[in-house]
Amino acid sequence: MEKELVLVLDFGGQYNQLIARRVRECNVYCEVVPYTMSLNEIKAKNPKGIIFTGGPNSVYAEESASYVKEIFEIGIPILGICYGSQLMAHKLGGKVATAPVSEYGKTEVAINTSSKLFTGVSSSTSTWMSHTDYIETAPQGFAVTASTPVCPVAAMENADKNLYAVQFHPEVMHTAEGTKMLSNFLFNICNCAGDWKMDAFVETSIQGLKEKIGTGKVLCALSGGVDSSVAAVMLSKAIGSQLTCVFVDHGLLRKNEGDEVEKVFGPSGPYDLNFIRVNAQERFYEKLAGVSEPEAKRKIIGEEFIRVFEEEAKKIGTVDYLVQGTIYPDVIESGLGKSAVIKSHHNVGGLPDYVDFKEIVEPLRNLFKDEVRKAGLELGLPDYLVYRQPFPGPGLGIRIIGDVTEEKVKIVQEADAIYREEIVKAGVDKGLGQYFAALTNMRSVGVMGDERTYDYAIALRAVNTSDFMTAEAAELPWEVIGKVTTRIVNEVKGVNRVLYDCTGKPPATIEFE
Ligand code: XMP
Repeated sequence: MEKELVLVLDFGGQYNQLIARRVRECNVYCEVVPYTMSLNEIKAKNPKGIIFTGGPNSVYAEESASYVKEIFEIGIPILGICYGSQLMAHKLGGKVATAPVSEYGKTEVAINTSSKLFTGVSSSTSTWMSHTDYIETAPQGFAVTASTPVCPVAAMENADKNLYAVQFHPEVMHTAEGTKMLSNFLFNICNCAGDWKMDAFVETSIQGLKEKIGTGKVLCALSGGVDSSVAAVMLSKAIGSQLTCVFVDHGLLRKNEGDEVEKVFGPSGPYDLNFIRVNAQERFYEKLAGVSEPEAKRKIIGEEFIRVFEEEAKKIGTVDYLVQGTIYPDVIESGLGKSAVIKSHHNVGGLPDYVDFKEIVEPLRNLFKDEVRKAGLELGLPDYLVYRQPFPGPGLGIRIIGDVTEEKVKIVQEADAIYREEIVKAGVDKGLGQYFAALTNMRSVGVMGDERTYDYAIALRAVNTSDFMTAEAAELPWEVIGKVTTRIVNEVKGVNRVLYDCTGKPPATIEFE
């Protein structure tokens, strides 16, 4: 990754991930780093360009994120966006003030198209603004290259020093020619070659991991989900038999999932992972017996997972590195040193700190989910693993309302398998965020043949979402729901009713617990 790198210096704005992504879409490798990174560390990374992100503060607020002025003197091109543009103006002697009129949303901007940043951009173009402060006066040596009726300095530049700034957000979709502007920055100003590709990422990462790990031993908790699978296979390519992967089957996986994971990653599969499958179903069911409260179930499953993992780690002996499949969206507080805590909490339920390891290795921490998928394909992982839906760590334990029993797990596994199969068969899975069956704790009277039944109701859930923070219930075709209903009541013993969950998030959550 040391070849051609652009750094996004994170001042706490909302769109930082998006900026990094847009840069990578231009085939330039990009990393997001915190504004607390020292100038020497930045120089050591030898970036071709630096992008200052937006941020929530005013440059005058005492607690606001800032950077030393010397960064503007090191000769590396800089593009400041929103707060980043104001910081550049403020540090270099311009004037930042509260705008008399705030601009939020779509804003038409008049552009000086002779700027290198705006080559090929229309002289009047639609941008996305979101600011209360603005640059009132550009610093000395800067030319104003864009404005709106209420924002005198919508863009400015000191072309001799390769310093550029825009008040609007070129990274968002609503800035019609934003990608053009970013690519102008990368190619006209930073002189990037744009020769980075996902396969280059995979190769460079493998090389970097080899150098970092040397002869050390590495342990990876492999769930079979896309992130940990991609991380494990990448590690295996880098260090071969120094890697051990532990897959804990807690008995709360989807139908046949344990065997499918073992088939791909176990000794008969194509990867050299020292794969250890731990069949821990019984101990999980025992611990969960009689527990109905969802948070209590989560805690029990998380804790037991760690206990199993710890026992396996002890058998291996000293481990130097622990691998986590952390990806960028997991790094909620980007670069502020908290990401490992967030992910381990989210994914594993707490880091096994009693395992003797030197460091956590997170080879995917700069990638988005779809980029991880691309890396997975590059590494030769099968499509069905690469495109899997998210599946929560506590598994079916939180898709069964009330207490968990082996019998209930079987019911929900069967119903869920039918539901997923029919959705794919009907071709309505494309674009669906997540869909699964859950077992309500409700039993009701039914009639089957001439017999009275008193059985469970299955709930079907399907949501449209892109970020999983909010979601809408999906409008599945009635014929599909009908077919799934018929199959579930006919084929799954113990079920006589099927319900469809029409609730969005909020007020509900995506999972049904
Ligand atoms: P909720 O139910 O909170 O789910 O709306 C949002 C997304 O997160 C997934 N999820 C989890 N993933 N460990 C995980 O790795 C968990 O404990 C967990 N709980 C929920 C859920 O499947 C959905 O995609």
